[in-house]
Amino acid sequence: MVGQIIGGSYGEIWIRQKSGERIELGDLLVADDILLQVFDMEYGSLLEHDDLARISGMQLEGYGTTEIHEKDVRNYIMVKAKPLFNLKTKSIPKHLPSFFQVLRRASPQDFEFLEKPDNAIYLGKIRSGSKILDVPVYINGREVLTHHILIPATTGRGKSNLVKVILWNLVGKGYAGVLVLDAHNEYYSYRRSGENYGLKYHPQAKGNVIYYSVTPPPGERSLRINIKNVRPWHLKEIVEFSPAQEDALYLFYKEYEEHWIEAILTSDAESIDIRGVRPDTLASLQRKIKVALEIDVNKKGEIFERGRVFSVTEGMRTVKDICDFLEEGKIVILDTSSLSQNIELLISGMIMNEIFSRYKGYKESGKLEDKPVISVVIEEAPRVLGEGKSNIFGTIAREGRKFHIGIIAITQLSSMIPREILANLNTKIILGNEMSSERKAIISSAAQDLSKDDKMIASLDKGEAIISSIFTKFAIPIHIDSFEELVDKERERKKERNSLFLFQ
Ligand SMILES: Nc1ncnc2c1ncn2[C@@H]1O[C@H](COP(=O)(O)OP(=O)(O)OP(=O)(O)O)[C@@H](O)[C@H]1O
Ligand SMILES: [Mg+2]
Repeated sequence: MVGQIIGGSYGEIWIRQKSGERIELGDLLVADDILLQVFDMEYGSLLEHDDLARISGMQLEGYGTTEIHEKDVRNYIMVKAKPLFNLKTKSIPKHLPSFFQVLRRASPQDFEFLEKPDNAIYLGKIRSGSKILDVPVYINGREVLTHHILIPATTGRGKSNLVKVILWNLVGKGYAGVLVLDAHNEYYSYRRSGENYGLKYHPQAKGNVIYYSVTPPPGERSLRINIKNVRPWHLKEIVEFSPAQEDALYLFYKEYEEHWIEAILTSDAESIDIRGVRPDTLASLQRKIKVALEIDVNKKGEIFERGRVFSVTEGMRTVKDICDFLEEGKIVILDTSSLSQNIELLISGMIMNEIFSRYKGYKESGKLEDKPVISVVIEEAPRVLGEGKSNIFGTIAREGRKFHIGIIAITQLSSMIPREILANLNTKIILGNEMSSERKAIISSAAQDLSKDDKMIASLDKGEAIISSIFTKFAIPIHIDSFEELVDKERERKKERNSLFLFQ
């Protein structure tokens, strides 16, 4: 036993901690079949405050210590806990454990009711405070991915690690295609303590993990996209156009189809023959397009590339290929580490627009159920999901679910995402968040009542998380596996298999 219930109310049960025990923030306790979680604690004493101050004063000022009679009885720590789950009825608890009930710590056996779902993604183990219980926690990948995942955390708390763990689980499964915009080039392959890590080293990576970069290592794919693949609505997502400029974009597109960009850039502003487009409108369009696509026109009127992605001659199939890979349930990592933010958003917008229209078509023709679900991992999500933004990512957040397309949104600033969208991100894997404004935004949009969890979320250490999801029966505290350990374990297994093979 670790303590005893001595009062409180439904959402705030007061527990007196047994002396010698050390209950921590986030600890899971059990009383009367009810799983409780500690969210706060304070000192309690049977002595008057003045007496305590006097005793302490005597001691500190060198007048000798006063022996407190039955110290363990008189002074104690009072723990506040909230009911999480009724372990017997497997539902949200509706009654209080009986008064004076003695509590014990939760043990792995208490969680035998947690089942391994279909299309399971393993995330880590149940966590009681900072102690790890040997109970694996899975989520149903198909369900969770299409209903969007939010990963909010302060920097360095393990967001990327978590995404790597999720992706590692998905390699070779084929039921989900995931596009990863990798702004730090940290997912595919990296070195740490003399070892190689990354999704490239998954046993089934070959053919299932696809990597694109503007500076591809030998054997990998080049991230080059032909300007003929760009459409007016792609550019609109990253460039602000006046109504007149927008009209002109569409006029050119209608007239010249895939050659519309070349047509705009090589038209002479003085002698332009497209109806109603004014020379100054054309001139601004030319300027904006050149900047956005990092291309230019030389004196001979030829378009040339200034940047590394958009090409006049190459990359005609890149977007199509990437969409095909996703549709085959593969993981496609785009190294966007050397690209500007706008280029990154333009590319990902082009791909997701294409996926969205393909999947809309599948829904109409009744083929959607046979297709893998699609997800896109986006770091610093507020830049696409923030207030007043209008782009394909917002559309996916709002209605992607109908077409089995979801987002994995990573952010340090949840408060910058409008509430309506936050509420739509139906699974939140909450890691440590230092800023109280961020915790507030997360808590107020969570699937479960986390109103008491503020201190717990603030105190989450690296890899410690709370999963709050419409697909979990309660907000599950977990410890996420270290990606590198996961890879090491896989290597060990492989070695063992190989040595078995040798002995046979
Ligand atoms: N579950 C975990 N177990 C052990 N170590 C972890 C865990 N999660 C993260 N780490 C370690 O903590 C460090 C930071 O993790 P990570 O890069 O995932 O954080 P982040 O939230 O993505 O940070 P940033 O905001 O800089 O992108 C890394 O060195 C990583 O290996
Ligand atoms: Mg990161």
